[in-house]
Amino acid sequence: MKMENFNFLLKDEKFDNLYIVNHPLMKHLLTHLRDKNTKPALFRTITKKITTLLSIFASYELSLQKSIRETPLESFEGYIINEQIVAIPILRAGLGMIDPICDLFPEVSVGYVGIQRDHETAIPHEYYYKLPDIKNKVVFLLDPMLATGGSASYAINLIKSEKPKKIIMLAIVSAPEGVSLINKNHPEVQIFTASLDRELNFKKYILPGLGDMGDRLYGTI
Ligand code: PRP
Ligand code: URA
Repeated sequence: MKMENFNFLLKDEKFDNLYIVNHPLMKHLLTHLRDKNTKPALFRTITKKITTLLSIFASYELSLQKSIRETPLESFEGYIINEQIVAIPILRAGLGMIDPICDLFPEVSVGYVGIQRDHETAIPHEYYYKLPDIKNKVVFLLDPMLATGGSASYAINLIKSEKPKKIIMLAIVSAPEGVSLINKNHPEVQIFTASLDRELNFKKYILPGLGDMGDRLYGTI
């Protein structure tokens, strides 16, 4: 059998720890997500599909344990994931990413961090914090938009103080400014994204981006 190499996961040259999922299905879904005519119901569905794809690639380093089982015909050597996983969405928009994580990892425990950017300054403000025990566990930090990186960096500081084994961030759309900040403040955190966009505008929104993720998810425009 001839094996071919497919480059479905691009490791960015400029930013350490940035991984871009480069798959035709991802590009297709992201195009519909960005489209301003996509209504909230479809927007939520696409968000879940994109998160599923991101999760598949973001979990590529999870450790496995051999497990001897029986098929109806004979025994076989299988594998099960040998990590305790915690998902932490940043409220509110991160909530749109939680269902697919719970589907893929039924044993997952979920914590919540509520952070909102100030409308004028884009400085993050914490309003809610409830985490399960995350010590020595693998944390998937969920926030669809990595813009200035202020919210994610703030959340990572909180999470790190609870001593997890590893933090992996899933961001649907990322701006260079945000990736740069996470790489500088938290170089050990891997970021998996569907797109590295061009820049931020004067209001610190991502260009081309998709607008306000929370508003589009929950019909609050
Ligand atoms: C959005 C988004 C991120 C944050 C990203 O949340 O969901 O959390 O902005 O921006 P940053 O990288 O510049 O911090 P927002 O503050 O709008 O709150 P919301 O999810 O409740 O709408
Ligand atoms: N938050 C969003 O929802 N969208 C952006 O482009 C930036 C921050």
